[in-house]
Amino acid sequence: MTDKELRVSEAQIAVHWQEENKFAPTAGFIAQANMTDAEIFQRFSLENFPDCFKEYADLLDWERYWHTMLDTSAAPSWKWFVGGLINASYNCVDRHLQQHGNKAAFIWVPEPEDEPHVVLTYQELYVRVNEFAALLRDHCGLKAGDRVTIHMPMVLELPITMLACARLGIIHSVVFGGFSGHACGERIADSGSKVLITMDSYYRNGKLLDHRVNGDLAIASARDLGQEVEKMLVWRRKQGEYQSRSKMVEQRDFFVDELLADYRGVRVDPIPMPAEAPLFLMYTSGTTGQPKGCQHSTGGYLAYAAGTSKYIQDIHPEDVYWCMADIGWITGHSYIVYGPLALGATGVLYEGVPTYPDAGRPWRIAEQLNVNIFHTAPTTVRTLRKAGPDEPAKYNFKFKHMTTVGEPIEPEVWRWYYHSVGKGEAVIVDTWWQTETGGFLCSTMPALHPMKPGSTGPAVPGIHPIIYDDDGNEVPPGSTAGNICIRNPWPGAFQTIWGDHDRFVETYYARYNKDPESKDWRDWPYLTGDAAVLAEDGYYRILGRVDDVINVAGHRLGTKELESASLIVKEVAEAAVVPLRDEIKGRVPDMYISLKPNTKASKKIEAAVVRAIEESIGKIARPKNVWIVPDMPKTRSGKIMRRILTAISNGRDVGDVTTLANPDVVEHIRQMVQGDDTKTDA
Ligand code: WTA
Repeated sequence: MTDKELRVSEAQIAVHWQEENKFAPTAGFIAQANMTDAEIFQRFSLENFPDCFKEYADLLDWERYWHTMLDTSAAPSWKWFVGGLINASYNCVDRHLQQHGNKAAFIWVPEPEDEPHVVLTYQELYVRVNEFAALLRDHCGLKAGDRVTIHMPMVLELPITMLACARLGIIHSVVFGGFSGHACGERIADSGSKVLITMDSYYRNGKLLDHRVNGDLAIASARDLGQEVEKMLVWRRKQGEYQSRSKMVEQRDFFVDELLADYRGVRVDPIPMPAEAPLFLMYTSGTTGQPKGCQHSTGGYLAYAAGTSKYIQDIHPEDVYWCMADIGWITGHSYIVYGPLALGATGVLYEGVPTYPDAGRPWRIAEQLNVNIFHTAPTTVRTLRKAGPDEPAKYNFKFKHMTTVGEPIEPEVWRWYYHSVGKGEAVIVDTWWQTETGGFLCSTMPALHPMKPGSTGPAVPGIHPIIYDDDGNEVPPGSTAGNICIRNPWPGAFQTIWGDHDRFVETYYARYNKDPESKDWRDWPYLTGDAAVLAEDGYYRILGRVDDVINVAGHRLGTKELESASLIVKEVAEAAVVPLRDEIKGRVPDMYISLKPNTKASKKIEAAVVRAIEESIGKIARPKNVWIVPDMPKTRSGKIMRRILTAISNGRDVGDVTTLANPDVVEHIRQMVQGDDTKTDA
C-alpha cells in the first residue's frame, strides 16, 4: 500500500453516532448576551472576507492604526493588520485603569482551602507588570524580540510575567508547569531563551511540590542542546521563604521578590509593536518527534482572542469568569489571560486540582466567588462526575455559560454537565480549536444556536471549514467523515513553527495546496489534522485526530464513538479505546474503562460494555478486551494518554511516563494486561 492509499482510507471513517436532540439557550441568557444578531454570519461571510475582521481589530486600542487588513505575500504565513502598532500589555492592563482600575482582574484561589484568596485589581496588575518589566529590562537586559522561557504554576505571578514580557515586546514561551525539567530544557533550547523564569514551589493535591528542582534539570538539558541559560529568576510561593532543596547558583539564580525591591514604583512605557511581531511561542505536546513552537502574532492573535472571548465566551466586565485550564496551554493563554483581560474581565485563577480536597471544591469556589461563566475540559467534567455526581446540587451557584474544550465530549457526559452543573439553565459551548489556531474554530454562538450534545456546532464567525476526502474532493454535509480544513486565513492563526518554517508549510498547508508558489489564500486550506463529519444541520462533529482512528477490518471507527457507547453502561466513569494489532482484522479495539466510586469490577460489567458497543455501533466494533482499571493514565492537564494504553495493549514499552499526573497506575495496568515483567516489542 502506498502512502497515498493509506491516507485515502483514513478519511473514510465509519460513523455510527446517533443524532442528538438539541437544547435551546434560555430567554434569560439571550436577553443579556453580547451577540444576538444573526446578521453577524452575513457580515463574516466569505464575500466580506477579510474586511469583516475589522470588527475584531476595533475591540483593541492601536498605537497606530493599521492600513492593510491582510497581506498574503508570504503565503501561507499571513500578516494581519499590517502597518498597525500595538502593545498587548497596554490593551490588557493600562487601558482599563480609568474605568476599571479598582476592579479585580484576577481572584487567585490557592489550593489549601484555609489560605485566603488574593484579589488583584487592574491597578495592582498595572503596578506589578511595570515593576517586573523594569526588572526584565534592567536586570536581565532583555529587549523586544528576545525569547524568555517561563515554567510556572497557576499563580498570579504567571500572567504578571507574561504581560511584563509583552510590555517590552519580549516573546514569551510558557511551558506547562507539570512538564519535566527535561521537557522544559528542550523548549528553552529550541526557542533560544537565555532567561528562565520559574517558581520555587506550589501546591498540588495537598502537597507543596518542589518546582525549583526542575530549573536545574532544564538548564542542564538546554546546555546539552547547546543553549546556555544566563539567568534564572525564581518567584517564591511564600514571599521570603524558599521552599526547595535546590541550591541557588550565585550570579545565575535570583529571587524575584528580592530584586523587585529595586524597582518599586518604576513605570515602563509599553513598546508599540508591529501587529505581526510575535507575541509568544506555545509548544505543542510533542507526542510525535520534536516539540513544535507555534509562533503567534501580537495584533491578529489579540484581536481574535478578544473577539471570540466577547462573543463566544460572552464575557462582560461584570461577569466572574473561571477557566480551569492551565495557563501553560493555549486555552489558558487565549481564554484566561489575553482574551478576558483585553475585555476588562474578572477572572478566577485556581492553583490546584479540581478534586482537592474533594469533588465539591469547584462548586464551593463558584458559590463563594459568584462565578457565572465556567470553562473546562471534558476530562475534568468526567472526573468530577465520577467523584461526585451529586455534589453540584449541594451548592448555591448559578452559571449562565459553560464551555467545554480540548476533546470530544460524549453526549452522556454533556448531559450531566448540562443538567447537574448547569442546572438546566447555563448555555454550553463545545469549542473546537487548536494550539495553532489561537482561538475557537467551531462552536455554537451561545445566544443564536441551539446546542447539540457531542457536536461542536457550526463554525464561528469568519471561519469557513471544508471537509476534504483524501483526494481533495469536498465531502458534502450528511455523508462520511473526512479531513476538516479551514478554507480561509483568520487573525488568530499561528504564523509559523519557530525555527522550522518548512515543517510549518508541510504539516499544515501542503496537503491540499495545488500551487506552492501561489500568493492567493484560496490556494492554501489549513489542515487541522482532525477527522470530522458535517451533519445536514451544519453542525460539525469532531471525531478526533486522524491518528486516533481505529481501522477494524477496513471499517473505520472513531475512538470516541466506542468510548461514548461504553459510557452508556451506568457503572462506567471513563473509557478509552486503543487499537490492538490483530492478525486477521488489522486492528481491533482494546477497551479500558474505569468505574464510578463504590462499584466493583465484574464480568457482568465487561459484558455490558461489549453489548453496549455492539448495540450502538455494531459487532465490527466489538472490543477484544475490556480492561477495568483503577484510573486512566493522564497528563497533568487531564488528558487520557491513549498512547500509553496503546503501548500496553500491544506489548510495547510505555516509554517515559514521569510527566503524567499518576505514573503509578501505568505499571498497575501493564501488569494487568501484559501479565508479567517481560516487555516485548511486538
Ligand atoms: C482536539 C486545545 C473535539 C482536536 C484547544 C484538536 C477537540 C486538538 C475539541 C487540539 C473539541 C480540541 N471537540 N476535539 N471541542 N477541542 N479538540 O492543541 O483533536 O491542545 O486537534 O488545543 O484537540 O489540541 P490542543
